[in-house]
Amino acid sequence: PAPELMDRLGRPLRDLRISVTDRCNFRCSYCMPKEVFNKDYPYLPHSALLSFEEIARLAGMFVAQGVQKLRLTGGEPLLRRNLEALVAQLSALRTGEGLPPDMTLTTNGSLLARKAQALKDAGLRRVTVSLDALDDPVFRRMNDVDFSVAEVLRGIDAALKAGLGPVKVNMVVKRGTNDDQILPMARHFRGTGVVLRFIEYMDVGATNGWRMDEVLPSSDVLALLRSELPLVALPAASPGETARRWAYADASGRPDASLGELGFISSVTEAFCGDCNRARLSTDGRLFLCLFARQGHDLRQLLRGEATDAEIASAIAGIWQGRDDRYSELRASLPPAAAEAGQAPRVEMSFIGG
Ligand code: GTP
Ligand code: 5AD
Ligand code: SF4
Ligand code: SF4
Repeated sequence: PAPELMDRLGRPLRDLRISVTDRCNFRCSYCMPKEVFNKDYPYLPHSALLSFEEIARLAGMFVAQGVQKLRLTGGEPLLRRNLEALVAQLSALRTGEGLPPDMTLTTNGSLLARKAQALKDAGLRRVTVSLDALDDPVFRRMNDVDFSVAEVLRGIDAALKAGLGPVKVNMVVKRGTNDDQILPMARHFRGTGVVLRFIEYMDVGATNGWRMDEVLPSSDVLALLRSELPLVALPAASPGETARRWAYADASGRPDASLGELGFISSVTEAFCGDCNRARLSTDGRLFLCLFARQGHDLRQLLRGEATDAEIASAIAGIWQGRDDRYSELRASLPPAAAEAGQAPRVEMSFIGG
């Protein structure tokens, strides 16, 4: 196997998140607010998108350099036509250990009921579904396109039936918007095999009007949950994990496997850059080394030029070896927004994927 690729802070490259479209059929205010993502928004033209063949070629090079997990994201990845064909190409890849990469997908669930079985058949291993509320009016307001909770729950059920588990559900918590949904969500998914994760509202991109007073720290979410439901902390399952894991406990305080677990993703109050092993490939083939990056490295130009696989692989290695990004850790000490004038805006999450 190739020697391990390390960045400047000694972090290996393990996780590649691939955005397959910059479009979405939802308009969550924390991600694609309607005022910005309207009919005049300059979405990428089709020719700018990496083709499935280009994505699979690049992914093969990443896997050869140590990537063990591939995540398809967007935008809403299931809007990309025939996505299962890409899944099939990616599931033919093999890691240094001769195994297919762990392959997963982040989706808003709107098309999942229709697509789950085909994705599973193509080799997808599991899915993560975003769902911010169980209360229908709250959810319809948050996705801002009047999409119902029931339809997303149908998608989650279809994923469970197709064997795309353990299914994870991501809930972005905004103080004053959906914090009253924390307990109902936990009660609903407890014992279903679905792993619910609470995500602190982040200052990604440049359009969501983020304010610190709308962040509900995970410690507050945890305290609220523990006031009603016994929980015990679990050890991390693998290095570089985004989520702190907790198990639902029985009356004696021991984890009860039949009740499952939940997680907290606390990138605002407890940054996890120290062992961040994630790279992101944007819809148009640029490699971003951090969720909060302002610039990416153009791989599409290499793909569409004369570069050989070996040349592209060595370019990727050089880019990773130069990486020193740790935005969430530095956030507290960064200059205020006013001092950022003149800098390129941070890239949108809908463009490089959650
Ligand atoms: P699995 O647990 O293996 O399914 O993957 P994961 O934990 O990487 O999960 P997922 O892709 O669902 O990430 C969950 C959320 O965590 C994302 O939607 C982001 O909000 C946040 N997140 C993921 N990766 C990063 C990261 O590198 N930096 C920051 N700041 N946030 C991240
Ligand atoms: N803060 C935290 N999470 C976010 N996501 C999108 N925007 C934000 C934000 N500002 C999450 C979504 C989804 C994934 C794609 O990223 O909830 O789970
Ligand atoms: Fe779409 Fe997901 Fe962004 Fe919501 S968070 S607008 S569902 S990409
Ligand atoms: Fe990784 Fe950047 Fe997120 Fe830190 S802020 S965990 S370096 S993607």
